[in-house]
Amino acid sequence: MTSIDVRPAAAAEIPTCAKIWRESINDYTSRLNQPPIPDDLGRIIRLHQHLFATDPERFVVAVGPERIVGFAAAVMRERLWFLSMCFIRPAEQGHGLGRRLVEAILPPPNVGAILATATDSAQPISNAMYSRYGIVPRLPLLSVAGYVTHPETLPDLPPGMVAVPFETIAAGPPDGAGHRELSAAVGALDRELLGVEHPQDHRFLRLEGRHGFLYRDAIGVSQGYGYAWETGRVGPVAVRHEALMGPALGHLLRAVPARGAQAVWVPGDAASAVGTLLRAGLRFEDFPILLGWDRPFADFGRYLPISPGLL
Ligand SMILES: CC(C)(COP(=O)(O)OP(=O)(O)OC[C@H]1O[C@@H](n2cnc3c(N)ncnc32)[C@H](O)[C@@H]1OP(=O)(O)O)[C@@H](O)C(=O)NCCC(=O)NCCS
Repeated sequence: MTSIDVRPAAAAEIPTCAKIWRESINDYTSRLNQPPIPDDLGRIIRLHQHLFATDPERFVVAVGPERIVGFAAAVMRERLWFLSMCFIRPAEQGHGLGRRLVEAILPPPNVGAILATATDSAQPISNAMYSRYGIVPRLPLLSVAGYVTHPETLPDLPPGMVAVPFETIAAGPPDGAGHRELSAAVGALDRELLGVEHPQDHRFLRLEGRHGFLYRDAIGVSQGYGYAWETGRVGPVAVRHEALMGPALGHLLRAVPARGAQAVWVPGDAASAVGTLLRAGLRFEDFPILLGWDRPFADFGRYLPISPGLL
C-alpha cells in the first residue's frame, strides 16, 4: 500500500472531510437499502469547524499521495475525551488507517481521561475497533422524530416551575452578571448530569441559533435546562430529577415552532423521555446509535445529548 501520512488538519480541509463523512456513511448504508445523506453538508461542516476551533490538535487527516483519504476528530472536555468523527474513504478501509487516526488523537494514558464515543449500530467495524480501547457500546441512543399529533398528552411543567429563556438571564454585556449567572447554572447542571462542564459547546449551540431555556422552581433554583431549534431539533436537555424530563420535553416541543418534523436524541436510559415522545406521536427512526465508554461518567437517564457527534 502507498504511504499515507497522518497529520493535523488545516481549516481549509474541513469541506473535504465533510465529503468523506458522507461518502463513507453512504457506502455502507446504501448496502442496507437506507436513503443517502442529503447533499447539503452545511450543518456537518459547521460541527467540524466547531471541533476544529476548540480542539485543533485532535482533528487529524490521513493524506495519501493525491488526496485526503480519511480523518478523525475528538474533543477534550475536562477529563472526558469524546471521539466525534472517524471516517475513511471506502477504498482505503481495512488497512489499519482508522486505528492510526484514533491512536494519533487518543489522550496519553497518564492523564486518566474517560474515553467515549457514539457509533452506528449497523457498523460492526467501528464498534469493534473502539472496543479494543475499552470504548465498548453500552447504551442505545435513539433517534425519535416526527410530528406531535397528540399535543394533549404532553405534560406541563409542574406548578411553580418556570422556563426562562437564556437571553432573558444573559441580557447585557457578554462579561456581565447575567452571562455569569447563566453559565454558572448551566455548568452546575452539566457537572452533575454529564460529569463535566462544556461551555464552548453551549456557545456553539447558541451561535447555531438553538434557543435555550432554564427551568427554575418556585424558589428560583435551577432544576434543568433544554434547547429547541426552528429546524425541529430538540436538545440537549438536562434535568436534576427524572420526573422533570417529560415536562421539559413537553415545553420544548411547544416552545419553538418548527419548520417541519421535530427530532430528539434519546439515550435508552431516559425511558420516560421515550414514552413522552412516542405518546405525543413521534416515532423511532433509523438504526439506533450506540453510546460507548470505558468508564461510566454521565447519567443518561437525566441528560439527553446534543448529537452523536457532540455530547
Ligand atoms: C470504521 C472505520 C473508521 C475503520 O477504519 P479502517 O481503516 O477501515 O479500520 P482498520 O483497518 O484501522 O481497523 C479495523 C479493526 O477492527 C477489526 N474489526 C473489523 N471488523 C471487526 C469485527 N466484526 N469484529 C472484531 N474486529 C473487527 C479489524 O480486524 C481491525 O483490527 P486489527 O487492525 O487489529 O486487525 C472505517 O471502516 C470507516 O470509515 N467506515 C465507514 C464509516 C464509519 O462507520 N465510521 C465510524 C463512525 S462511528
